[in-house]
Amino acid sequence: PKGLFTFDPGFVSTAACESKITYIDGDKGILLHRGYPIDQLAEQSDYLETCFLLLYGELPSAEEKEKFASTITRHTMLHEQLNHFFNGFRRDAHPMAVMCGVVGALSAFYHDSLDIGNEYHREVAAYRLIAKMPTIAAMVYKYSIGQPFMFPRNDLSYAGNFLHMMFATPCEEYVVNPVLERAMDRIFLLHADHEQNASTSTVRLAGSSGANPFACIAAGIAALWGPAHGGANEAVLNMLEEIGDESQIDEFVARAKDKDDPFRLMGFGHRVYKNFDPRAKVMKQTCDEVLSELGIDDPLLKIAKRLEQIAIEDPYFAERKLYPNVDFYSGIILKAIGIPTEMFTVIFATGRTPGWIAHWHEMISGPYRIGRPRQLYTGNTQRDYTPIEKR
Ligand code: SDX
Repeated sequence: PKGLFTFDPGFVSTAACESKITYIDGDKGILLHRGYPIDQLAEQSDYLETCFLLLYGELPSAEEKEKFASTITRHTMLHEQLNHFFNGFRRDAHPMAVMCGVVGALSAFYHDSLDIGNEYHREVAAYRLIAKMPTIAAMVYKYSIGQPFMFPRNDLSYAGNFLHMMFATPCEEYVVNPVLERAMDRIFLLHADHEQNASTSTVRLAGSSGANPFACIAAGIAALWGPAHGGANEAVLNMLEEIGDESQIDEFVARAKDKDDPFRLMGFGHRVYKNFDPRAKVMKQTCDEVLSELGIDDPLLKIAKRLEQIAIEDPYFAERKLYPNVDFYSGIILKAIGIPTEMFTVIFATGRTPGWIAHWHEMISGPYRIGRPRQLYTGNTQRDYTPIEKR
């Protein structure tokens, strides 16, 4: 389909400002992907269809959707040589360190044959990244637990294939639970794009220098890792486990309000949303669905819901418009599915890939200039060198 990889002469992209991909109204809690509200996409669409929408700007026809999905499926395997790249990492390395390294290494395998000035080559790079991220994510997990890598399967859905690669072993099949498959697909979808946040701006800035898409996505993964950004979902679970019991909540809320205490309530607040993050609402509903399907009575969910209620009622948070964000409930769902805490940001990076790629392409799809954020200099005025004997 035309659209993603053809240049729109009326739209001269810039490194960090204009975009047609995602719209956020932080005060009203509105999030639109190419004009479609996130809650409608979460309820009626699926992740690969949303990937298509982000990339091409329109929802696919049934034929386009089938062709897109089958092309992605046929790019899920990794070059066999990349398997050896994992062996350079310690088994106990943080999964994001491995993910960042392996995605950057894709440049050495798939980029040399691509010319980003070529429309078709840009499309191939986009498909390869969307297809291979779940495979890499599952390999990162398998490597950390010393289990063999599982090959992707072409008979499973995108989310089902990911769960299979994560939890199947050569000795034992993993039967994909449709409720967990839908929840995993929805988690990827809710993370697919979010305008020009820290990691997406990093991808755009790297793209503005003409760097190859694999290196740009690796730069985005590095930026996402921080606890103030994509690392928050891991930090939320660690916080809930540290709170441990509803009786301890008041102490942690007091710490979050104490200016002298660096502790913040992970999963609350947002650089843009000064209202409920619309993704958090869908994530909370998905959390209830998964836990009831699995018959899990997770005490952490009770702590989370109590914390949310207190934060909404407490003037400190209400005055500062601090509401739960996308990371607040996602970790509880991922934990229920059986994914370890340290893998949460890897899941976030996997879901965010189509957004990063759509922004990367928007960045380079026509005449562009290298991004060069200006600074406000507050250092010394000019002065002469002082020889060491006079210091
Ligand atoms: C993501 O940008 C994106 O779109 C990101 C993201 C995406 O999809 O890409 O949405 C994903 O990164 C979500 C955010 C995940 N991070 C967390 O949950 C970490 C906890 N949140 C905070 O670190 C914080 O809220 C930020 C980083 C998210 C926003 O930081 P800001 O913009 O500096 O917060 P602010 O300036 O709006 O804070 C205003 C006040 C301050 O107090 P005062 O100086 O006014 O007295 O609120 C306080 C802050 O100290 N505050 C908090 C708080 N967040 C802000 N106090 C306690 N707990 C918190 N979580």
